[in-house]
Amino acid sequence: MASTAPIGVFDSGLGGISVAREIRRDMPNEHVLYFGDSANAPYGTKSPEQVRELSDAIVKRFVEQGVKAVVIACNTATSAAANELRDRYDIPIIGMEPALKVACDRGHGNRQRVIVAATPLTLRERKFAVLMDRFKADHTIFPEPCPGLVEIVEHGQLDDHDVVMRTLHQYFDQYDLSTIDAVVLGCTHFVFYRDYFRELLPDTAEIIDGNEGTVRHLGVVLESLGKLAPEDTEGDIKLANSDTSVRIAQLAQSLLLTLRECPDKARKVRGNPKKGRRERTGAYGQQNSDDRRRWRFPRDLRRGRDGPHDGRPRARRSLLRRLRRQRQYGFLYLRPARPQPHVLHTVRIPQGICQFRQLHQKPQLRQSRLCVRHAEQPRRRESGGL
Ligand code: DGL
Repeated sequence: MASTAPIGVFDSGLGGISVAREIRRDMPNEHVLYFGDSANAPYGTKSPEQVRELSDAIVKRFVEQGVKAVVIACNTATSAAANELRDRYDIPIIGMEPALKVACDRGHGNRQRVIVAATPLTLRERKFAVLMDRFKADHTIFPEPCPGLVEIVEHGQLDDHDVVMRTLHQYFDQYDLSTIDAVVLGCTHFVFYRDYFRELLPDTAEIIDGNEGTVRHLGVVLESLGKLAPEDTEGDIKLANSDTSVRIAQLAQSLLLTLRECPDKARKVRGNPKKGRRERTGAYGQQNSDDRRRWRFPRDLRRGRDGPHDGRPRARRSLLRRLRRQRQYGFLYLRPARPQPHVLHTVRIPQGICQFRQLHQKPQLRQSRLCVRHAEQPRRRESGGL
């Protein structure tokens, strides 16, 4: 499959548009085919067999359309169907799960009280049970099925403040929200409710969704296969739906256009807090000749105020600012001295995904270099090395 082939993204209905929109923002060179199955929504109250059958039909169609990867922009369909789809189709299939890990990691070791809002099927499936098992000993987790929130989006009632708030109160009044550290939006439809959740929750409670992680994962997978679209491609999104009414088409279009931007997200260095700390305290390294062959600085980053860079946050931020301006994908490598497990830091920039891989550290070297790899120089898996 060519790197210029589209990415298929689907959901039970309109929720996955929140993911498609994020792909569009982060990977503007990619063509996205979005399919919403609104005629069969909701999936969350169906049986796993029904969801598997519906998902299979959609992926089959995507494969016929020649997609290079599929994103299941639906936690429910991922729980019920992702494994089978991966067995059946020979393209990358990226799924989603409630971002419980992100919520628990925020506590840096302190016990967190987290509500996971999702569909009944997501919370009933084995995938969620396994996820819960990883965290329930150290954290207090409240799974909360909220099927009504899917219906409101599909019925175009998202702007009806009273209806939305009444529904939210129905689900969440049972909790003492002042004691909750985070609410995980474990359904892509719920991402559209961010502002309403903000109104409902105290400022101390974080609202977390899995969209960012999913898009980052998509970028990493495509990159590793050398399948990121070339930088000179102008990407787009084509919306399709099993409900062919004008109402759904308009609703889909308006959700695509109006989804709130989260500009602050793009500045955050993701990854676990330990890695972040390591990087903040400074990482040092040196580029070797082997690297130089495979990686290169963009010409205007090689010298001048911003280069060569050291591992300090200021230099990194400055480099990122420049990458954003130049609309480049950047893969930044802090160069080695002492072997240690690869540490990957990913930073999203509005035009793409930026990754730092800290390979080694050598404190005595006061200068390190961040190598920027261009999207048109995809690293092939078989080249090994890094
Ligand atoms: N948006 C989907 C999810 O993320 C499913 C909603 C539904 O159809 O029930 O789980």
